[in-house]
Amino acid sequence: MTFEVNGKTFSNPPRPGQCLRTFLRELGHLGVKKGCDAGDCGACTVLLDGDPVHSCLIPAFRADGHAVTTIEGFAGVNGTHPLQRAFLDAQGFQCGFCTAGMILTCASLNQAQRQDLDAALKGNICRCTGYRVIQDALDGRINIEDATTGTAFGRSLPAPAGPLIVRGAAPYTFDTTIDGLRHIKLLRSPHAHARIIGIDKTDALRVAGVHAVLTHEDAPDGLFSTARHERDWMDPDDTRVLDTIVRFVGQKVAAVVADSEAAAEEACRRLKVDYEILPAVFDPAAAIADGAPLIHGDKTSMHRVANAARNIVAETHGEFGDVARGLAEAAVSYEGTFTTQRVQHAALETHGGLAWLDASGILNIRSSTQVPFLTRRALAGLFKLPPDKVRVFCERVGGGFGGKQEMLVEDILVLAALRTGRPVKLELTREEQFVATSTRHPMRVTVKAGADKDGRLTALQLDVLSNTGAYGNHAGPVLFHAVSESISVYNCPNKKVDAIACYTNTLPAGAFRGYGLPQTLIAVEAAIDELARQLGISPYEMRRRNMVKPGDPMLSPPGSEYHDVRYGSYGLDQCLDLVERAMAEEIPSPQLSTDWLIGNGIALTMIDTVPPAGHVADCSIRLCDDERFELTVGTAEFGNGTSTVHRQIAATALATSVDRIRLRQSDTAHGGHDTGAYGSAGIFVAGSATQAAAENLARELKALAGQMTGSDPGSWILEAGHAVCGQHRLPYAELARSARAAGQTLQASGTSAGTPRSVAFNVQGFRVAVNKGTGALKILKSVQAADAGRVANPMQCRGQVEGGVAQSLGAALYEELLIDDEGRVINPKFRDYHVPSFADVPRTEVHFADTSDSIGPMGAKSMSESPYNPVAAALGNAIADATGIRFTDVPFKPDRLFPELLKKFG
Ligand code: FES
Repeated sequence: MTFEVNGKTFSNPPRPGQCLRTFLRELGHLGVKKGCDAGDCGACTVLLDGDPVHSCLIPAFRADGHAVTTIEGFAGVNGTHPLQRAFLDAQGFQCGFCTAGMILTCASLNQAQRQDLDAALKGNICRCTGYRVIQDALDGRINIEDATTGTAFGRSLPAPAGPLIVRGAAPYTFDTTIDGLRHIKLLRSPHAHARIIGIDKTDALRVAGVHAVLTHEDAPDGLFSTARHERDWMDPDDTRVLDTIVRFVGQKVAAVVADSEAAAEEACRRLKVDYEILPAVFDPAAAIADGAPLIHGDKTSMHRVANAARNIVAETHGEFGDVARGLAEAAVSYEGTFTTQRVQHAALETHGGLAWLDASGILNIRSSTQVPFLTRRALAGLFKLPPDKVRVFCERVGGGFGGKQEMLVEDILVLAALRTGRPVKLELTREEQFVATSTRHPMRVTVKAGADKDGRLTALQLDVLSNTGAYGNHAGPVLFHAVSESISVYNCPNKKVDAIACYTNTLPAGAFRGYGLPQTLIAVEAAIDELARQLGISPYEMRRRNMVKPGDPMLSPPGSEYHDVRYGSYGLDQCLDLVERAMAEEIPSPQLSTDWLIGNGIALTMIDTVPPAGHVADCSIRLCDDERFELTVGTAEFGNGTSTVHRQIAATALATSVDRIRLRQSDTAHGGHDTGAYGSAGIFVAGSATQAAAENLARELKALAGQMTGSDPGSWILEAGHAVCGQHRLPYAELARSARAAGQTLQASGTSAGTPRSVAFNVQGFRVAVNKGTGALKILKSVQAADAGRVANPMQCRGQVEGGVAQSLGAALYEELLIDDEGRVINPKFRDYHVPSFADVPRTEVHFADTSDSIGPMGAKSMSESPYNPVAAALGNAIADATGIRFTDVPFKPDRLFPELLKKFG
């Protein structure tokens, strides 16, 4: 057999049954990614004799005698193909994990296919971008600005990793080689609730190449939460690395460490586990009813479980004013109960990592995480290791969306590395990702609202039941967030909240973009529209009369968690105006029959710019001998764009260009704590720390210039890479030389404690057409206005909005993890789950409010998770406007819409 890969001939035979994807990666072509291994996502796309194929579906031997082109060989050595250039110019990526496959597919399209991208790109999923920038790349649009001129902050500068991403050379978690690597596979529970009586390892240990079988007998006893927060008290201690009780189908039971994945899988199949089946409960209402099976009956308030005897992990109740009186006095009122479903993040890079002990005794963990520092802290505590003997870091992360604010694999990696003393790898399959990692919390939300005849709210009440699944990671914080900004954005003298998060024997929910707000907003924003409709007031005007304005208290019961939130800036009024104007503009209407009903809908949302109760970042920056600045930040880059913006902030504060800023990030070995890349804190918190560090260094540069010239440091300014004072103009290179000669290091640090917090706003508008005969839905127009403060990078920020809308549309219209009556996820594949593809996502018109935040770095606010929040709510309002029917169960699938439409329209 001979294979030609990128023009080079190989004669290594593949292993029996090996697919082309793994074969190519073993030959060193690491730009070939694994997203699903089922031919659904396209991350592994290569060209076979010029045609795009999903290499995970092609047996490697089929490449015999054919020419394979991977992204590494696409443009020749060190070259850049025009299409790669186009992806750079349009910034047709965020995390970049899909990009190599996407470029190769795009490169193979003929003119006719380019006219029908809906069909041509159906085999390539991008979870981040919303696809419009991919269309921009194909259209030759230039979305970036020149990085070397002008002030860096506020400009659409390209991501520093871009050139590596389009060449398939950006290193993700598994894009490395480690000698002597051993592989971990996990045996998972087939039962929703069971006690493990015993595990017979005998047969498994007989499999050639198996080195260890790890069970609860090998695991530490300590309880922890997979959720990672700065404060451990935010989550219950209810999880063991490997437990004697399994509480959902898919929970890990044992780990096998072997020379190959195949041997580890075979050993998993041979493990004999004796289970005592326990009664299970899947429905949250049943779970909190008297007599329900107890899922964590052994836990107490010491474990921070609110009421284990009722399966309640967290709850919050509060009222101010008198809601009953407010409803009684209202001219109009509305009550509705809404349900939301279980949605998966579906980041293209699955959870996983590598762990090894190095020669100095440091335990290294390289994982796909949003929280390296908090993971290090948890691992050190769990395995009783000195923190300085544990290093956690990540390379580029292939998407996160909150799903990697969890410690789901690192615990097993450490257990295996310590037990075997060898480097180990654990990479979850797509199916494992669906059945055993976290999801959005499904919620049942009842809203009651009243308004007087002038449209002023008199009462607003939420009753929430959140299903956290088998473990309580993020249960409480998501619940509190769900009932905070969703109602605190409205002024109302009488507000009440009763909210409970409960355990069920289903896979655990966790952090997900928006963190509970998208679920409750569907109910609150529906209520506002319904009140407006009864009063004959426009949805825009109803919101204007009730939404908070600067100076208004932002209160929601119970209130105490929400201190230190201020109006660092306010652009909600602008956002509403921008959407109203854009929605009023005429658009070319498609030819639709009278079966199609047209409607408009809007929703608004407010979000605190930092999570409450602590979010910390320490950064440092120094002027290096090569006269560039080295900026060290702890936060991770997973397509959220912080590495671009941090360089922009530092370059602006130091009056230089971004190409002079070298970034080291997301590695506990570099020092400087960072709570993590979640809650949109990457810019607001780590960006503030970056600004502080850079401004401190700027002061040092001026002080040195003053010292060198015997002048007042206060009279110096920094300008275009120089310290300047009158006739003096000292280049940074000269300052660096002078410092070196004096044995001085030009270095400064900066910290942000993430407080006080500001607020950011989003308003979404949709025009939809609903087919009254089928329930089919078309989006005719999508507009979002965002108040991101002073926009640090308009191109990137627009990408966050477009991507957030696309991801949220999937959740609003069709995404749903389905669980059968034995607790099994029945659609754990992209093919059956339906992540939006190119054809599903309309172009969203994006507008920005003109504000500047007095708290955020250089006037900026966070804007990566909040664009998701108003989408389903606005869509629900648009469907109600079109059909006259208020649909209350999300997703708004045609088969949900159809029965009600049939009843009304026949
Ligand atoms: Fe496409 Fe992240 S950029 S999946």
